[in-house]
Amino acid sequence: MFGFKRSAFQLVVCLAWGLQYYTFGSLVLWYIFACGLSVAVVLAVTTYDHDYWRSRGVFSPPAWPVVGHILSVVMFKEQGGMCFKRIYDTYKDERYLGTHQFYQRTLVVRDPELIRRVCVNDFQHFTDRGFFFNKDVDPMAGSVLFLRGNEWKRLRTKISPIFSPNKLRGMFPLIENTAGEFVTRVKDLLSQPKDVTSKIVEENPVGPSNGVGQVSSVVDSEKLVGGYTADAIVPCAFGLKSNVMYNDEDPFAVALHAFYEMSVFNIFEKTMRQFWPAFVLFFRMRIIPKKTHDFFYNIVTSVLRAREKGVQEKRGDFIDMMMALRNDDTNNNSCKKDNEDVEITDMVISANAFIIFLGGFETTSSTLAFLFLELAADQRVQEAMRQEIREVLEKHEGKITYELLQELVYMEMVIQETLRLYPPFPSIQRLCTKDYTIPGTTTVVERGTIVLFPTLGIQRDDQYFENASAFIPERWSEGRPQPPPGVYMPFGDGPRYCIGMVYPY
Ligand code: HEM
Repeated sequence: MFGFKRSAFQLVVCLAWGLQYYTFGSLVLWYIFACGLSVAVVLAVTTYDHDYWRSRGVFSPPAWPVVGHILSVVMFKEQGGMCFKRIYDTYKDERYLGTHQFYQRTLVVRDPELIRRVCVNDFQHFTDRGFFFNKDVDPMAGSVLFLRGNEWKRLRTKISPIFSPNKLRGMFPLIENTAGEFVTRVKDLLSQPKDVTSKIVEENPVGPSNGVGQVSSVVDSEKLVGGYTADAIVPCAFGLKSNVMYNDEDPFAVALHAFYEMSVFNIFEKTMRQFWPAFVLFFRMRIIPKKTHDFFYNIVTSVLRAREKGVQEKRGDFIDMMMALRNDDTNNNSCKKDNEDVEITDMVISANAFIIFLGGFETTSSTLAFLFLELAADQRVQEAMRQEIREVLEKHEGKITYELLQELVYMEMVIQETLRLYPPFPSIQRLCTKDYTIPGTTTVVERGTIVLFPTLGIQRDDQYFENASAFIPERWSEGRPQPPPGVYMPFGDGPRYCIGMVYPY
């Protein structure tokens, strides 16, 4: 009935039979049979799908009952990305291998060529990412990140022009403003009295000053860049000003905190959504908590109304661009409208402004934090980067412009190397939406299977990068051989690549 392994099924039958006929009235024997039967039934049920991959000729490492291959993640011993990196590192001879995340069948693809095929050439079989939600319960999840199939395609096509280099140039002054505040904040922190920073040194004894004088050079860079990133994105996404850098109680800081809170319920909800979607759909559980939903929806709609009434001037931010898109749609309404066309409602604008904030926040702040860490550890790289900035600034008479940024070639290499060693998404996934035969094989990936790319493992593989665990920005210099397609993909690949990845040319 459950597709039990035959041997497990036979064991269950044998034990049940023995329980009935061969205990000879002995209570002890009866207990032994009963316990054996219970264990056999539990094992058979909890591993019922573990033969799936082997039966299709796909290698699959031994799995644990219930949790499959992610026991270390469930036990909080490893982060998901690290778990799949370990699997990637261990099974070097496999192009791909079958795993289970709870009962979710997951094909881990090690071969960059196949990754490329799944993401790009054969994308029509893998159009979704595998997030399950009910739009009535979770309207705020109706953004490009979560949407599926045609709905995603239409929305992505519609909003993509908003992320063109030209539009980004328009947002440059908004970000530059916050960058100025960031410099002031760093200066403030460095001039703080010793007793404030020495407390940080005591808590983190491994630091540049290590408690010997100059303690004021120790700052909590993760918090610092987190605040900066939030304050830089808020004006671009919502047309408002936040103050997360200085104030932990800023409403945006509170909203972020609420969203990322690791409560037992949140962990449970995320686990179930990933591995047993039917459960969360049945119990109408939200991806975006109600409090977060209300906060962002109210903010966006109040900005929209203020701009419609002309109370607030236009600023070239995301809200302005979405309003322009909505106006275009209304003006073109005389033409026959496609039934499936995505209407730019207040909710669609809110959902996508929210996802820009969220998508941009975590990724950018973690990249900056790791970048600072590497710069602190390698004075040579730090000095080379500063030197380049000084030279380019001098050439532009000290004025930072959008065009100036394109000339910071070494800095670009430092960022690329940071994203290689510390990709904010250590694994990327697709959901198989149409049965797919892996080219050159008879293996069929069935609809509903998750296909996972262990980005962190591939990007740290010596096979593709010499001395892969070392931070060497120079490996990205012009003229040096670049990794083959499907190897370096911190922003993903194919039509569903990161919408925030804008080439400035
Ligand atoms: C260091 C910065 C960033 C990194 C490393 C990054 C990385 C990624 C990755 C790996 C994906 C999944 C791609 C895939 O499945 O193939 C993604 C998707 C996405 N990112 Fe980013 N991201 C960054 C910044 C941003 C920013 C600033 C924004 C907002 C402007 C953003 C918005 C999004 C959105 C909306 C998606 C979903 C795209 C879709 O499904 O159509 N990201 N990002």
